[in-house]
Amino acid sequence: MKLITAIIQPDKLEDVKDALFKADVTKMTVSTVRGCGQQAGYEESYRGAVMNINLLPKVKIEIAVTDPFLDITVEAIIKGARTGKIGDGKIFIRSLEETIRIRTGEKGDAAIG
Ligand SMILES: Nc1ncnc2c1ncn2[C@@H]1O[C@H](COP(=O)(O)OP(=O)(O)OP(=O)(O)O)[C@@H](O)[C@H]1O
Ligand SMILES: [Mg+2]
Repeated sequence: MKLITAIIQPDKLEDVKDALFKADVTKMTVSTVRGCGQQAGYEESYRGAVMNINLLPKVKIEIAVTDPFLDITVEAIIKGARTGKIGDGKIFIRSLEETIRIRTGEKGDAAIG
């Protein structure tokens, strides 16, 4: 099992949701967050130096997947979120130790569903 965390531009959420749905990935948690990447929230640094950090609105998508679903999920996120411009976002992948469905007590792949 893997836990995918994707940080994307808020206006790409609908496109990412569509791409995920087409890939048969329908479970996710979405939050609004703020962040900055290597531009520190600015398109360009001033005289080569970034004076401070500007946190911009972003959307965070978290998806727990079984291992066979990892690649298609990542590809769907990229398909929906990529414009080719700076700030398109980033995807983090972690090993997921356990998943438990509270209602039934199912664990592991069966709980991811
Ligand atoms: N190393 C990181 N650690 C934590 N969050 C990050 C990291 N890099 C990016 N993020 C998050 O992802 C968001 C989008 O990052 P962004 O796409 O700007 O990455 P980047 O490395 O600056 O790439 P690009 O040059 O394409 O803009 C950031 O606003 C931040 O919320
Ligand atoms: Mg950036």
